[in-house]
Amino acid sequence: MLRRFRWFAYGLIAVALLAWGGYWLGEGGMQRAGVSVPGAVSVGGPFSLTDTTGKPVTDATYRGRWMLVYFGYTFCPDVCPTELQTVSAALDKLGPDANKIVPLFITIDPERDTVATLADYVKLFDDRLIGLTGTDAQIAAAARDYRVYYAKATPKDSTNYLMDHSSFLYLMGPDGQFRALFRPGTTAAELADALRTRLQAS
Ligand code: NI
Repeated sequence: MLRRFRWFAYGLIAVALLAWGGYWLGEGGMQRAGVSVPGAVSVGGPFSLTDTTGKPVTDATYRGRWMLVYFGYTFCPDVCPTELQTVSAALDKLGPDANKIVPLFITIDPERDTVATLADYVKLFDDRLIGLTGTDAQIAAAARDYRVYYAKATPKDSTNYLMDHSSFLYLMGPDGQFRALFRPGTTAAELADALRTRLQAS
């Protein structure tokens, strides 16, 4: 994610949080890591994509386990690798409880992120990480449901374009419903603590 865009993304989420208004503040609101949002607010939803083994999957494929969802792309120079390392480290800290969580990396660059490209990429971070790609329409639908912003950045000197994209981790419960949002820069320890708390409360 480009730096100038990062502020734009923060702006977007700030507007969204304001729109959600007193709800989340009244519900205990901001926690040390992870933002609570009431069930009435729609984040996430059904998706239909292809996993890194080439198998068609939907959100229902992972029902019964927690989904930790991140949208990004394999050519990302900075933020995506950092966030995926954080996810991997947080899962390590959780120990056996990590088995209750499915970490998903959904590409917002399906043009380049084929099944094979994604499969190679996620392995660099964690064997548990599942990459998901799809058609432009499938990706657009999933991103819209998760309120993810993404757009191709105009290439200048390079033939390789970049993607601007918002960078949040979404925790979905075993019922598929949204539970928490984690800001970029959340540390592995913060993420692990927040996940442990959520898992124990369920
Ligand atoms: Ni990125």
